[in-house]
Amino acid sequence: MTAIPAPALVVLVGPSGSGKTTWARQHFASNEIVSSDALRAVVGSGEGDLDASDDAFAVLDAVVAARTRRGLTTVIDTLGLDPARRAAAVTTGRAAGLPVVAVRFATALDLCRQRNRLRDRPVPALVLTAQFRKAADADLAADGFDVITVAQPELVLEPAHAPGGSAAAAAQRDRPAGLRFALQISAFPWGADPTRPRQWLAEVARTAEQAGFAGIAVMDHLLQIPQVGRVWDPIPEAYVTLGYLAGVTERLELGALVTPVTFRSAPLLAKIIASLDAVSGGRAFCGLGAGWYEREHAAYDLPFPEVRTRLDTLVETIGTLRAFWGPGTKPHGRSPETTCYPRPGRVPIIVGGGGERRTLRIAAELADGCNLGSSLPVLDHKLTVLRGHLERNGRTIDDLKVTVLDLPIVGNDPDQVGRLVEAHRGRTSAKAYAATHHAGTVAQQVGRYRLLADRGVQTVFVSLPDLTGPAEIERFAPIVQAFSG
Ligand code: CTP
Ligand code: MG
Repeated sequence: MTAIPAPALVVLVGPSGSGKTTWARQHFASNEIVSSDALRAVVGSGEGDLDASDDAFAVLDAVVAARTRRGLTTVIDTLGLDPARRAAAVTTGRAAGLPVVAVRFATALDLCRQRNRLRDRPVPALVLTAQFRKAADADLAADGFDVITVAQPELVLEPAHAPGGSAAAAAQRDRPAGLRFALQISAFPWGADPTRPRQWLAEVARTAEQAGFAGIAVMDHLLQIPQVGRVWDPIPEAYVTLGYLAGVTERLELGALVTPVTFRSAPLLAKIIASLDAVSGGRAFCGLGAGWYEREHAAYDLPFPEVRTRLDTLVETIGTLRAFWGPGTKPHGRSPETTCYPRPGRVPIIVGGGGERRTLRIAAELADGCNLGSSLPVLDHKLTVLRGHLERNGRTIDDLKVTVLDLPIVGNDPDQVGRLVEAHRGRTSAKAYAATHHAGTVAQQVGRYRLLADRGVQTVFVSLPDLTGPAEIERFAPIVQAFSG
């Protein structure tokens, strides 16, 4: 089945009663559909006010022009029988850089007639027959559409940020691949009631555990970062929070994504994570990075040396962690002894960041895992660079757990996806926000995650931009289930 790209300008072509409006409402958000019938009811006395047609089409053209200019998906719900109007739509879409799609409705004439008879204002029988012929004769290839397809009950809409996603979703249905998900809690919208934080955290964590997530991560930041919220939004200290989460969960792996090596001395970090591993029953992991947010260092009186020094510290820290977690005790670096009890189990070190010359090299040389961005074209490039670093160290991609950080907008249906994009986009355009946040329905996300799994990604850290509590985690649960094999 042909996939329809999104965003796109979609032109429906079919006689009255062929099911155009019904189909469009099933597969698109309501504000993505521009209907000549609905606009007749706006500028005229009702959907059947044929005298209002010229005015309705003038408004329709204005709406289509405005939406396509913004790169927004637009479905033109008209009969689609006028070749000049179809050609104009192709021109409009192309000028906006959108793919232009024709969807033909091949419903049998008898069925159209039957449906037509049941309507309040049936179209005259001869008119319907003429419409049917005209629709069948429409030369859509000559109109210049990029994609021409026949309407199916099951529409495959493929977001442009995940090319190949629809085929991947089908593959996941037929031959499921495994993929681990960890919930990244980046914001803490637990409200002003001082008794809420502990309940909120416990509810979120237990819901994630029930939903089949493999772990929970928190950011290790001292000020809320601008990418997530306002500087006065709550952000509890990472390892205090993880210690609490260890107490209210049974199975989830726990760690910070990522801990800047600038915050604590490396031996102190070894001690903290060893303690987290002990109180969680061996569930700790260690996300580690060079640190980047200068403002929090200044506020908390922490040195923030230049990036080269911070990356040197990252290398040293990995060595120190392993020394303090390893057997026995001996001098290491500036420490006369590496005495660290309780001694943890094998705590995986995941180096976060995509810096190609040093960060990825450090991950390839020294780490158990890496953490990259989830955008597909960028990821493909980073993986190529990473493979090169691994080869030079006599390792392969199988020796390193590839994880990604993903900030998806997930809706149960297109309407909800659209509403969530609108609610969270801030000053970013809806088109750009939907692309960077891989906005899509649950089914579309399954396809996109399968594309990640096919690239060798082992774990997806999911930071939901709309996370308010258990509801958003439950909405994500079917995706986790689809990969739980
Ligand atoms: N219908 C149906 N099953 C479908 C599609 C449509 O039962 N798979 C019914 C709808 O409920 C509606 C009628 O058929 O009562 C016409 O469908 P509609 O989607 O409104 O057809 P359109 O092509 O939009 O017709 P028009 O051009 O007149 O707007
Ligand atoms: Mg209709």
